Amino acid sequence: MKISDSAPAKTILFGEHAVVYGEPAIAVPLSGIRTHAEMHPNGREFRVISEKAHLNRTYKQLIKGSGLEVLLSRLMTIIGISELPSDTLKITSDIPVASGLGSGAALSVAVIRTFAKRYHKTFPTEFVNELAYEIEKIYHGTPSGIDNTTIAYEQPILFSKSTGFTPLRADINKLNMLVIDSGIRSKTIDVVTDVRNNFETNEQYIRNIGTLVRTAVNALGSGDAKEIGTLMNENQSLLRKINVSCPELDEMIDIGMKNGALGGKLTGAGRGGNFLILAKDKDHAEKLASLYEIKGLKVIL
Ligand code: PMV
Repeated sequence: MKISDSAPAKTILFGEHAVVYGEPAIAVPLSGIRTHAEMHPNGREFRVISEKAHLNRTYKQLIKGSGLEVLLSRLMTIIGISELPSDTLKITSDIPVASGLGSGAALSVAVIRTFAKRYHKTFPTEFVNELAYEIEKIYHGTPSGIDNTTIAYEQPILFSKSTGFTPLRADINKLNMLVIDSGIRSKTIDVVTDVRNNFETNEQYIRNIGTLVRTAVNALGSGDAKEIGTLMNENQSLLRKINVSCPELDEMIDIGMKNGALGGKLTGAGRGGNFLILAKDKDHAEKLASLYEIKGLKVIL
């Protein structure tokens, strides 16, 4: 018998990096882009398989202290089993890795939920979120917690480290927002570390991002696309100042702006990964999407 569950990608609309320093940020799940975990008995031994990650290992063969190894060990303790079942855990994912869409948190949440089903346990979302956050610390060092929270609760949120999250009205589909993969991969931990090492130079910009996010909450609430676009551009310019963009991303965003987009910015850690382009309407979004596709970029949404 097969057991499976899944978790979505997420995108940060406003406030990445500043959120690590206590500022608020806004993120939405991308429910159509998901990581799936599936378990079925194989009659031999526990084995985790991911074609995309070229992974085919028993539990013992996993790197000790890696995110997945720690997650499986935590799950054994939580469920109260001394060894993993003779099952194959198969991971499949539409979420590109190291690209700002929360692939690590989605993997954790999908695996936690599948194990819960496998052992007939009910894990409250808050518990799933906390466990995924523990694993995020292994991947990212000092994560704010916005990735796992958006993904575990699967709803648009305003998030801050001190106050947690508040559900938010923000429908990315209604906004004519494109999510585009720059094709450049960059590790969150490296970019976050650079921002931290230059914190004194960056601090004012980080606080400015926080102020901008507070304004964006109202703009999203009223669905004012023009204002949202302007705020995206301002956020991108602040992200450039803290040195988390890169020339390629700037150029790709510029293409959208030159073709009538209302706004554009990177999403997630930056220095590559995905970026957001806000189109004027549905037709415009389709035109912009084909423009990027002609240039060889992958339009995720
Ligand atoms: O690139 P992602 O999807 O891991 O997002 C990182 C978001 C940051 O604000 C840069 C870091 C964090 O922990 O919030």
